[in-house]
Amino acid sequence: MDFPPEIRPDAIPRHIAVIMDGNGRWAKSQGWQRIKGHRAGADAVTRCVEACGDLGVEFLTLYAFSTENWQRPKSEVAALMTLLERFLIEQRSRMMADNVRLQAIGRLADLPQSCQDELQGCIEATRENTGVTMILALSYGAREEMVDGIRRLLREVGEGRLAEAAITPEEVSKHLYTWSYPDPDLLIRTSGEMRLSNFLLWQCSYAEIVILQKLWPDFQKEDLYGSVREYQRRQRRFGGL
Ligand code: IPE
Ligand code: IPE
Ligand code: MG
Repeated sequence: MDFPPEIRPDAIPRHIAVIMDGNGRWAKSQGWQRIKGHRAGADAVTRCVEACGDLGVEFLTLYAFSTENWQRPKSEVAALMTLLERFLIEQRSRMMADNVRLQAIGRLADLPQSCQDELQGCIEATRENTGVTMILALSYGAREEMVDGIRRLLREVGEGRLAEAAITPEEVSKHLYTWSYPDPDLLIRTSGEMRLSNFLLWQCSYAEIVILQKLWPDFQKEDLYGSVREYQRRQRRFGGL
């Protein structure tokens, strides 16, 4: 395909993070069950990954299920887990064809065993792929991530493997689930909500935030391009002048 117009190829965000919100409202607005919105949301994921591939984005982190989402009705949680498993099975060949590398962050051990197995299978199969790295945030909470990181830091200090004075912001970053990825440059949230909902609180310190009014199932490739255009209009100062 041609490179989308009015996007500078030399200023593409390396890492885009997305809070995929609004599936339930999308379904309700059509008089359907919420799960239908989640199904449509899975197709939007495919479009989003493709659009990132078009632009040469290196990392795409997708907030798919939060630690707080476990509080939803059992039936919705079960349906989401089934959908996740089906998504992984169906998408595996597409990920291979599109050179996508799959990764995951979160308390993955909380997921049903069958989901964990599919996830690990997909991660293994796509490990050598060199295109977009798609990172699924599953049973993810930024505070839980920080707690897990703090516990590891304390253990290392306790065992004398790390000096307390050596705990710097860089060292903390190395103890998060995202230790091997750069921080997000651009954070997109759909459905108009202006909050982080416990997503990448540490890593998004200097992310540019774009809020889209659209509900996630309506997300098109053009919405990703438009968000990158908006990002390229921003002046990132990082506290300097
Ligand atoms: C986002 O859509 C998907 C998940 C949180 C799993 P929602 O399910 O939050 O949809 P709304 O926000 O209720 O419309
Ligand atoms: C954030 O959406 C979590 C995901 C998109 C997975 P929520 O719908 O759970 O967030 P709140 O409840 O509106 O803050
Ligand atoms: Mg929501």
